[in-house]
Amino acid sequence: MNGTHFQVLKSWILPSANDFILDPNNRHERPAGNPATNISFVQLTFNDTKWTTVNLPHDWAIGGPFYTAATAPVPGGMGRLPVQGIGWYRRKLSIAASDVGKSIYLDIDGALSYVMVWLNGNLSEGWSNEGWPYGYNSFRLGLTPYLQAGDNNQLAIRLDNPTDSARWYPGGGLYRNVWLTVVDPTHVAQWGTFLSTREVSSQSAVDDLTVQIENKAVASRQIDIVTNIYAADALSRSVGETIASFSRTTIIVQPGQKVSVSGSVTVANPRLWGPLASEQKPNMYLAVTHLYDGNKRIDSYETPFGIRSLTSDAERGLLVNSQHVRIQGVNQHHDLGALGAAFNVRAAERHLEILRDFGCNAIRMSHNPPAPELLDLTDRMGFLVLDEIFDCWVLQKMTSDFHLIFPDWHEPDLRSVIRRDRNHPSVIAWSFGNEVGEQSTAAAGAALEQELHDIVLSEDPTRPSTASMNAARPDMPFPAALDLIALNYQGEGIRDSPAYKGLTGITTTPLYGTFHTKFPSKMIFSSETASALSTRGTYLFPVTSEISAPINNTSGGNSTSHQVSAYELYTADFGASPDKVFAAQDQNNFVAGEFVWTGWDYLGEPTPYYSARSSYSGIVDLAGFPKDRFYLYQSRWRSDYQMAHILPHWTWPDRVGQVTPVHVFSAADEAELFLNGASLGRLRKQPYTYRFRWDQVIFQPGELKVVTYKNGTTKLRLTADRSSIQADGSDLSFITAEVLDSAGNLVPQADNAIRFSVSGPAEIVATDNGDPADMVSFSSKERKAYSGLALAIVRTVNGEGGVARVTAFGQGFMSAQVILTTS
Ligand code: GAL
Repeated sequence: MNGTHFQVLKSWILPSANDFILDPNNRHERPAGNPATNISFVQLTFNDTKWTTVNLPHDWAIGGPFYTAATAPVPGGMGRLPVQGIGWYRRKLSIAASDVGKSIYLDIDGALSYVMVWLNGNLSEGWSNEGWPYGYNSFRLGLTPYLQAGDNNQLAIRLDNPTDSARWYPGGGLYRNVWLTVVDPTHVAQWGTFLSTREVSSQSAVDDLTVQIENKAVASRQIDIVTNIYAADALSRSVGETIASFSRTTIIVQPGQKVSVSGSVTVANPRLWGPLASEQKPNMYLAVTHLYDGNKRIDSYETPFGIRSLTSDAERGLLVNSQHVRIQGVNQHHDLGALGAAFNVRAAERHLEILRDFGCNAIRMSHNPPAPELLDLTDRMGFLVLDEIFDCWVLQKMTSDFHLIFPDWHEPDLRSVIRRDRNHPSVIAWSFGNEVGEQSTAAAGAALEQELHDIVLSEDPTRPSTASMNAARPDMPFPAALDLIALNYQGEGIRDSPAYKGLTGITTTPLYGTFHTKFPSKMIFSSETASALSTRGTYLFPVTSEISAPINNTSGGNSTSHQVSAYELYTADFGASPDKVFAAQDQNNFVAGEFVWTGWDYLGEPTPYYSARSSYSGIVDLAGFPKDRFYLYQSRWRSDYQMAHILPHWTWPDRVGQVTPVHVFSAADEAELFLNGASLGRLRKQPYTYRFRWDQVIFQPGELKVVTYKNGTTKLRLTADRSSIQADGSDLSFITAEVLDSAGNLVPQADNAIRFSVSGPAEIVATDNGDPADMVSFSSKERKAYSGLALAIVRTVNGEGGVARVTAFGQGFMSAQVILTTS
């Protein structure tokens, strides 16, 4: 369908974008005349009594039925559900007599797709039959001129959802909330506040606020603007007295104009917003803006916000309020499983609660803007968010995806998302592209990327932006224009380990280090890792002896039952097991963290079995039940949580006498496995391994038990004798590593192996521990502690000033680091 019907009315729709197009010369003029006046569905007189009554948000496709034939109109990639086609919604609006003369808007949070709106079948001059094509964006349409007091206002909304428009299940219809907003003609404009914070400490913070006022009245208006700040409770409602106020400002707004006013205020002793998996709490504030005409209050507008600082550091990763926070993130599509795309706050909250249970603290909104309420949840629950906008630019991935409308709509779509979402403290960065084809079009792709980057920057100078790369290499033009290096799968390497040999497609060695060397001042993280695949509770034999393997019918998969083994070692052809990803990150400690593909299973994209309906990549399945992988991530992301998870289950009547490997996920250092009371061996976790595995267990029914051991809660501390050294190639910093107990005392007999690494302009020239009998060569970067201590000697590089980060890592410890400045 390609939105072809939309083409007919395109010129009448384009002016809806004008508020989001910066250059007046590029804005659109509505053509004269009124097209499409003869459509019966838009008429007041049309009899819709036979239509189905639905509640919004509504996804017209989720009820099915599934297309199960091999050639389905909507294939596995889009979830085999009937998303495609044209759909209409009608509703009567009731307008109070006292609201006539006010400005009345229809605010649509998201509708799939190519929306067009009629009111009272009235298609004369002005606002009527406006719309918005991109199905994931929120937008506002004006209803004022044709509304009348009473119940006889007929709204008619047409949607046209193409097939082949997404690589996942999009859903169809008015799948997000739709609001009727009634305000004084002079009011705070749509998304009309921008509140950011700077100079943040626990003693004080400066809040900067811009308020945009819109005057839809026929005469100019003098307005007083007052904004007060309150602490907010868990639901973003104000509590207590005003804690700070922006100075009252008086402005005159001409009819049809918008005017912006800015001010700053200092908040004393702010309660800072901070994320999960840190010592911090997601405290929120509320700014309440009132507009006055003389003494009469004519509008009030609330802006929930948080006070926090963000630093994206190439060596140290992400700092929130100057504290390091590792990004322990997942990708999430927008569907809510069996509820489809129809947004529901409680269902989204449950998603986040289950993610939080295994230590997740960050979400990448892949690959489109979320429902606005989801960002309210991430704010108040303390998740970090990578807010993503596009999956493609000019070059298509699907025949009917965003590339069709990119030329007209990229600027308005980009600007509108940022204006909508920029007050949320949970949003830490913008992503304006995922694996776009333009990665590989050299200078042309990079020029387009620069344009998009600059649009983002002009709307929000307080956050960095990026676009995810699976194909762009460090020496190509594409990464150069990005604020942050966001890698999909390239960090840990693609198809580069033994089991993947011979597969076709991109092959890449682990590239974290190469990107870091090329871009020493940019923070690097993985926007997609893993793509590990499994179906919960299914174990297939034999089990690979590798740490990561692709899927075929003899290893990990069953193409008849469409199931993938849950040993959590199997991946998409380009993917890597969590174990392989963890090792790559621990060997490159500058990496700020990762967003796993994916947190939950999602509808569509059922790699590797496209006759199925939903994905296999979730840490949690589509119903929300944890797969075994949940515990693997929990053992790493909540390493202080005492837990041991054994797999597989132990009910195998037909496997008696057969090899049935047993794997255990736990943050422990050692584990001993017992079958019916007999030990099958005690294992110690080796460096860069993340599971205990007994691969030769012969199945016997009975009791399988694991006993785990952890070396108390020891930790490492690194101290540099001098942290500021000369970049002359001979100055040294002597760095002491101490093994400490939970009370911070030296563990006097500790002999743990410690591995040192350095990133930035410095090198490790030697390590030691003072033990006369230690025969490991001095140049080794790995050194056992002796009586609790080890030493690394770090030398500068001649002429290369900058920041160097020395990291020490030992099995069973959180890594420790020290930062050196060389000049
Ligand atoms: C990535 C892509 C995701 C998803 C994933 C599948 O390349 O960005 O959208 O398709 O692969 O594992």
